[in-house]
Amino acid sequence: MAPAHPSPPQAVLFDAYGTLFDVYSVGLLAEQMFAGQGDALALLWRDKQIEYTRLTSMSGRYRPFWELTRAGLRFAAQKLKLDLAPDAEDRLMNQYRHLSAFPENREVLLALKARGIRAGILSNGDPEMLDVAVKSAGFTDLVDPVLSAHAVQRFKTDAAVYDLGPAALGLPAKKILFVSSNGWDAIGATWYGYTTLWVNRAGAPLDPLDTQPTRTGSSLRDVLDWFPAA
Ligand code: LAC
Repeated sequence: MAPAHPSPPQAVLFDAYGTLFDVYSVGLLAEQMFAGQGDALALLWRDKQIEYTRLTSMSGRYRPFWELTRAGLRFAAQKLKLDLAPDAEDRLMNQYRHLSAFPENREVLLALKARGIRAGILSNGDPEMLDVAVKSAGFTDLVDPVLSAHAVQRFKTDAAVYDLGPAALGLPAKKILFVSSNGWDAIGATWYGYTTLWVNRAGAPLDPLDTQPTRTGSSLRDVLDWFPAA
């Protein structure tokens, strides 16, 4: 167990896609549809989706995450020379809407609730997407607030998005534990001023940008080290 933090956070905000919901789970359906290419499609789809958040946000051309997700899928299919008919596109998008949650998440959210720690979401996802994802995972009573980049029409790592957390929780960023499996998001949130946990599920290298998340773990369970049971 990690040593106690000198000034422990009082609430938690989770990134959604990749952190609570397994974005690569769409690879299974993609593999059924395009044998031998499922993982490549899922990976490129995710990369393009995130690239488009940066492109649109930096150029002041915000479009909801759902639209950028569809654009990323179209690009990835074209690049891999896959014939993505409209019904195939809809099936994959529908799967994205109902992503699987990582197996340990529920017990972690339940434990936080039992310990009286408020736990919410701060995501690039638009409110409708997040609403469906939270409901399908059965997390409705376990996450509050659900904060979306849509409110400010920009995407992480823009400070306007990270601002939503302290504003909604009434706490300074340092008193909020921001949890992400996306290395870039963990770094962006650390730069912003949150206390951060990078859940490095994939064993990825740290982006060498001279910034370390406050802590690095490998499963959502590592969140609980911050909040020992009474
Ligand atoms: C999110 C994406 C970036 O939920 O994972 O914000």
